[in-house]
Amino acid sequence: MAHQIRITPSILNADFANLGAEIERISVTSDLVHLDVMDDIFVPNFTFDFAHASEIISVSKLPVDAHLMVADVDQIAPKYAEVGCASVTIHAEATTDIRSTLKAIRSNGARASLALKPKTSLDPYLEFLDDLDMLLIMTVEPGFGGQKFMTDQLPKIAQARKAIGSKPIWLQVDGGVSLETIESAAAAGADTFVAGSAVFNSADPAQMVTILREKAQSAKN
Ligand code: DX5
Ligand code: ZN
Repeated sequence: MAHQIRITPSILNADFANLGAEIERISVTSDLVHLDVMDDIFVPNFTFDFAHASEIISVSKLPVDAHLMVADVDQIAPKYAEVGCASVTIHAEATTDIRSTLKAIRSNGARASLALKPKTSLDPYLEFLDDLDMLLIMTVEPGFGGQKFMTDQLPKIAQARKAIGSKPIWLQVDGGVSLETIESAAAAGADTFVAGSAVFNSADPAQMVTILREKAQSAKN
């Protein structure tokens, strides 16, 4: 089956003092911008609180794909949809009411997405597929950019691709996606790729997005 490839750069490794300009730099070639929200509780790092994230969302030239790495995510997730995110991802490990939170994200106008940490198995979450617009398989432990892609997640990506079948659910990977690793993720069935350091540490971020897209396109399964 032909899947459309999407590249969603993460600004975690961008210049936080100039995020509007950083997003603009990648806007011509990118599909969405991936916003990593970390609370120093669910992960040992802090990026933005809701007020700061809302400001970024309101000025972003690209639709925003919010990746919420926050504890007790159920209350806050629909608010990210309300302030205009195109997509809101909650972690399976941080929600106590997956189905109603996913529904609340959708009813506030955003795509609803569920993320799984590397040690979290897909099986218990297959029953929620119909509530999802995107499934995110983490290929690093969440918390920091610049980590190594975990190849042991490739079978989970392939399992997810098979389970998704013809459902219109995007399959995203996040962590360590680079020129060296994107093809294996695409071949396993991922169609939506977060890339942080690979994009923002390159001399020409917009062009890097194009090269990553071409590589994924040629390897996709
Ligand atoms: C990690 C974040 C990722 C990270 C990706 O917890 O969710 O989005 O920014 O950065 P790279 O591409 O450098 O692994
Ligand atoms: Zn992320």
